[in-house]
Amino acid sequence: MEHLQPLDVVIDATCGNGHDTLFLTTLSEQVISLDIQRSAIQKTEQLVGTKATLLHLSHEYIDEVPLPKPPRLIVYNLGYLPGGDKCITTKRDTTLISLKKSMNILAPDGAISLTCYPGHEEGFHEEQAVAEFLKTLNPQQWTILQYRCMNRLHSPIFYWIEKVG
Ligand SMILES: C[S@@+](CC[C@H](N)C(=O)[O-])C[C@H]1O[C@@H](n2cnc3c(N)ncnc32)[C@H](O)[C@@H]1O
Repeated sequence: MEHLQPLDVVIDATCGNGHDTLFLTTLSEQVISLDIQRSAIQKTEQLVGTKATLLHLSHEYIDEVPLPKPPRLIVYNLGYLPGGDKCITTKRDTTLISLKKSMNILAPDGAISLTCYPGHEEGFHEEQAVAEFLKTLNPQQWTILQYRCMNRLHSPIFYWIEKVG
């Protein structure tokens, strides 16, 4: 990913099985990963070892994470843990709280990547709430891109939210 330099701080706000964290550790030496499930933290630890800092913490408290400098990338892969309990899923209210906090702590040229899964009920409402919020942002301050499959109703929707200047 061209956006990142090896010493940039990166946060994986939903580390799940650790695949995104593992990829991020190939791009940066300073990856911090969060999840509310201890099992997710353990699975991620098995994959990345000490290459990332793993925190058993809800991303609604992302602004309380000690950081050496502001993050240049924050990654949200929303929804539930693949192969896990589908009831333990990201929720629209806490996701919005976290997203707003992420926008505040981001480095001046930082970005947020956010993938929504509208194919399940909470994911549908969560994506709608995220989209409604993103539409309100000042284009002088934020560039927001949406990437989606137009002819598959419930396919994942990817957002790239980049701070301008
Ligand atoms: C789709 S999975 C993430 C997949 C993961 N990035 C990977 O590479 O395997 C979503 C994860 O979000 C976690 N999650 C749900 N609510 C959360 C919250 N409030 N804060 C942090 N993680 C949360 C779930 O426990 C689940 O592991």
